Amino acid sequence: MRKIALITGSIVAVFLLSGCGNSSTDSTTDGQSGPKLHILPVLADEDGNSADGKATYTLNATVNTNVQIETPNGSWTTPMWRYNNNPLPLVIRANRGDKMTLNFTNSLGHESTIHWHGFKIPADMDGGPDYPVAPGSGKVYSFTMDQPAAPLWFHPHPDMQTGKQVYMGLAGVLLLDDDISRELESSGQLPSGERDVVLLVQDRRFGLENNGVKELRYMDQAMDSDGMLGDTVLVNGSQFPNLQVSTAKYRLRLYNVSNARNYDFAFSDGRQFTIVATDGGLLKNPVRVDHIFLGAAERVELIVDFSADSTGKNVSLISREFQDDNMNMGDMNGGGNMESSQNDGNMSGDTGNENMPMDGRVPNGTPLDIMSFRVSKKIDDPVTIYTSLPERAEITNRLDPGSAVNLGNERIFNMTMKMGSMTFVINGKSFDPSRVDEYVGANTTEIWNIKNNSPMTHPFHAHAIQWQILDRNGVPASGTDLGWKDTFLVRPGENVRIIGRFEPINYGDYMYHCHILEHEDLGMMGYFRVGDSGHLDSL
Ligand code: C2O
Ligand code: CU
Ligand code: CU
Repeated sequence: MRKIALITGSIVAVFLLSGCGNSSTDSTTDGQSGPKLHILPVLADEDGNSADGKATYTLNATVNTNVQIETPNGSWTTPMWRYNNNPLPLVIRANRGDKMTLNFTNSLGHESTIHWHGFKIPADMDGGPDYPVAPGSGKVYSFTMDQPAAPLWFHPHPDMQTGKQVYMGLAGVLLLDDDISRELESSGQLPSGERDVVLLVQDRRFGLENNGVKELRYMDQAMDSDGMLGDTVLVNGSQFPNLQVSTAKYRLRLYNVSNARNYDFAFSDGRQFTIVATDGGLLKNPVRVDHIFLGAAERVELIVDFSADSTGKNVSLISREFQDDNMNMGDMNGGGNMESSQNDGNMSGDTGNENMPMDGRVPNGTPLDIMSFRVSKKIDDPVTIYTSLPERAEITNRLDPGSAVNLGNERIFNMTMKMGSMTFVINGKSFDPSRVDEYVGANTTEIWNIKNNSPMTHPFHAHAIQWQILDRNGVPASGTDLGWKDTFLVRPGENVRIIGRFEPINYGDYMYHCHILEHEDLGMMGYFRVGDSGHLDSL
């Protein structure tokens, strides 16, 4: 059953062994063969002044934007849902402290919202399902972005339709800058400008070609309710794209905005790289790694160094093979279509073989080619990565468990599988839009204990706060777990303790949920209410 995946794995292994110098034996790493990476468009501040403390933008959710999907084997057109009819996902770049005015219009045929993933934000601006925007109407989101520089993002969050709307193409990037990040850039301690690249990684499944058009397929397989997995990994909208680089350090803002897929990102030659930021901001101390595992909705900023490479060198960003805990799930589901879901581990389209997997569902853990880099120009690398953030950066202070109001009596979120319905629940409950599940006092620090007693890994996300991870199964946090996190993976049998501070801006009802969007839409979600008494009767 795992045969194909293993064969693909060994191709990667062979390549790893032959990675230095001669790349002619492996066509997948020939950067010339892939389409050019799209650089995502950055929206301009509508008041024309990005330094006046006011950020004004318009987002119109539209259907049937014709998107050209480029792959190493040619291209086709796919109608997608996008913002402002733009064929690419959009980037908003703003400064800490700025007041955002976002004019949203919903031109979809269904209600939608804009949720500001990772933002410290009042509940009525957070774009949760309790503040739906009806088709044909709009909403003005206004809030002050007062939190550290970070790779944040936005996406729809309507009741039971989040997975579909994100999958159809509605998700964007919000890069927040602050005086620390600007200073690190201007002093050559972080790459910037054209060497600062946003990468949105999303897997998709396409229908058969019809007059040059392939439509997206969503939830058309029996196992898709376990999480929507496709067979085509898109980076900024293209399959296995190529970026020409200079002999210098690059900052890759790597977003896993897939509905359900985990990636174990690494480089094809095994080179080390440096993580400088997690979901909610820069790390106090950069962390050197040779791979980074990212669940759905997690982000990192990594620095990859091409300064020692000779021109002409090709290197790929890959996802390494890992054990798919969904396998256990398949067994629990009766394993009905497991055979067919295994039939093709080749996601990169590098073989010219047009045989698509029969059901388009490539399992989590299958090794993947993500994109390639071709070193094309020799320059003097101006960047030396910072070693420690200035003291004034909030992340330099670890939150003290002793300051938590619930130390010794932690709030528990237990993720389990509900037998019978085979759906996932938190604390035994499915989402009920009319029920508040947790009451949190305003202006308090709390410890939450997230337990996974289900057979599948879940990315846990809570709105409106950035957390510090205390420990995993009692082992104190280290490495990238020391950064600000709004989403983190909890593996089967694991419990992750987190600590967070509810600030005055946190007021009202917010969601916590699994960020496998199909789990969320099927009810793996709840409300927590933040208020002065901890028990608000109404808002
Ligand atoms: Cu990306 Cu409820 O969130
Ligand atoms: Cu969120
Ligand atoms: Cu889940």
